[in-house]
Amino acid sequence: MEVCSIKSFYIKSKVDEHKKIKKHLLKLIGDYKVSKNTDDYKNISKINYAPDSSLQQLANENYLTYLWPYIQDKIGEVAKYLKIENLFISNAWFQQYRKNDTHDWHSHFNCLINCVYFLELPDPKYATQIKTYDGKVIQPKVKEGDLLFLLTPNRHRSPINKSGKRKTIIAFNMNMIKTQDIPR
Ligand SMILES: [Fe+2]
Repeated sequence: MEVCSIKSFYIKSKVDEHKKIKKHLLKLIGDYKVSKNTDDYKNISKINYAPDSSLQQLANENYLTYLWPYIQDKIGEVAKYLKIENLFISNAWFQQYRKNDTHDWHSHFNCLINCVYFLELPDPKYATQIKTYDGKVIQPKVKEGDLLFLLTPNRHRSPINKSGKRKTIIAFNMNMIKTQDIPR
């Protein structure tokens, strides 16, 4: 096989109303009863990730329904840029990192792109890092309130949170859906 290099990218956007919605979103996440964390996520203080959330389950998550109006247009802009029709959120979850928490290198599955909303980011150096295919580590220039969109094959990690302050993110996987399959 022959590997030919092409340029890749990440997309940065932001939640315009971040300051207005942050407190309420953190309360909804704080009140959220997480049933169990698997060993895969033992270095993340609070996470409600489930690999097989249904669209109906996502639609019932109150932190997501609250956030949706504030990110809908931003996701639409990304879909337009990428020329993707019928982009939809196929999974979503939150993660809270306290001191020394981390999420090691990984990529997502069953989606075209994924997104991180930095709801609490004590320092930009604790934002998601991306690893290129030639092994270079990239630190995207993002701050609290930003949205970071990554193409799915990109490996990324959350570096160790060395600060005494909590980091909170809401993550989304997004995919295309056939028009006839859109829930009515
Ligand atoms: Fe991730």
